[in-house]
This record gives sequence, structure tokens and C-alpha cells, in this order.
Amino acid sequence: MIEPDFLRATRAAYDLAAVPYTEFNSTVFPTLTFDHAMIAVFADVVRAAGGGPVADLGCGPGHVTAQLHDRGLPAFGVDLSPELIALARRAHPELRFEVGSMGALDLADGSLAGILARYSIIHTPPERLPEIFAEFGRVLAPGGHLLVSFQAHEDPAGPAEMFDHKVTPAYRWPPDRIAGLLREAGIAEVARLVSAPEEDPQRGFPQAHLLARRRAS
Ligand SMILES: C[S@@+](CC[C@H](N)C(=O)[O-])C[C@H]1O[C@@H](n2cnc3c(N)ncnc32)[C@H](O)[C@@H]1O
Repeated sequence: MIEPDFLRATRAAYDLAAVPYTEFNSTVFPTLTFDHAMIAVFADVVRAAGGGPVADLGCGPGHVTAQLHDRGLPAFGVDLSPELIALARRAHPELRFEVGSMGALDLADGSLAGILARYSIIHTPPERLPEIFAEFGRVLAPGGHLLVSFQAHEDPAGPAEMFDHKVTPAYRWPPDRIAGLLREAGIAEVARLVSAPEEDPQRGFPQAHLLARRRAS
């Protein structure tokens, strides 16, 4: 199958930036209170629903996969970038990390109790996002949970907007539009946290964390 250009470009950009991106993350991630709160909520709801395998899709260097593991979930990571996966394996040798694309996962239908996609949908061109969410819907078990985090757009009816992400172009979305696309894929919103733009000193974007659940049947 011919790989779309955006996947090739995203992989090449993250391979090149793997070391500085990982270093940047290691200083910034511990300070992100809202992210940690939502990761904790996600882990709690997955465990409360009976637990099971959880995929950190677009896992980067694996720091969130490790947090999910520390919270008692059998978590593994998947990422497009072989360089980031190599760093993840080195940092967390006890965990499983695979190179792969979240739009075409090597996973059986309904095999996951949870998916976490933290700032990893942002590099997908808007017209391709429904394919990604359809894949999430395929691999999530009925009742399985999704936590998706992304830079948000303040205009609830606005389009996805490209912005100058440090590694490779990215898109920010109105949270309602992401919730709508998820609904079309059979994944219904359960809760959300959206931070005020002023909380983001770098770009002044709201950050959205949507918790959603695959419909039971
Ligand atoms: C902004 S980084 C976020 C990394 C990590 N989730 C975190 O919380 O720090 C985006 C990550 O998503 C990965 N990614 C982007 N598109 C992807 C795709 N279609 N399939 C798998 N990984 C993807 C990139 O390689 C990169 O590691």
C-alpha cells in the first residue's frame, strides 16, 4: 500500500527531532497539572470498567505509557517514529513499544479496554481524521474508553486550523468538532477539560482533553 505523504513527513520530522523533543518533554511534562489529572481519571475509569489492554497511540518517548503502567494498567505504546520508539524502549525496557500507524493498527477488533492519544492526532490532515477515529472505534472493546488531548480552537463552529508546531505542521480543533467526529465513529463523549488560552504561555491556545467511551454495541 502506498503511504500518504503526511505520514512520511511526520515520521521523518519526529525521527530528526527525537532527542531534543524527548529532552523538552522531560522538563515540561511534569509541570502539566491538567494533563496529569486527566490521565489519572482515564486510568481510574478504565480500571473501574474492568481493566484490560490500553494503547498509548503516538506514544513518543513513552513517558505516558509508563504512567499508565504505574497506575496498574497493562499499557503499551505505538508510534510512527522508529527513533522515538527506540528511546521509549531504552527508557522503559519493561514495557512494550511498537512502530506503527494509528490509522492502521496491527490489533484485533475490540481488543482494547482503552486508548490514550495525547497530542498525536494533531498532525493528521483534517480530512483524514475520520479514518483514525474509525480505527479507534474498531480496536476499542464495547464500553472501552478513549482519552484524546489536543490544542483547541476557541471558535466552537470554526474549522481545524493549521499552526506552526515546532516539529511538523499541526492542526488545532474546536473540541465540539472532535466530539462530533468521535460520535460518528461510535465513541461518545463522557467528560472534557479545556484549559483557558492564558494557561498556555507558548502559543495562547486552549488545551482540550476529551474522555469518551465506545458504545456498548
Ligand atoms: C506531539 S507528539 C506527542 C507524543 C506523546 N503522545 C506525548 O504525550 O508527549 C506527537 C506524536 O505522535 C506521533 N504520531 C503522529 N501521527 C501518528 C500516526 N498517524 N500514528 C502513530 N503515531 C503518530 C508522532 O510520531 C509523535 O511521537
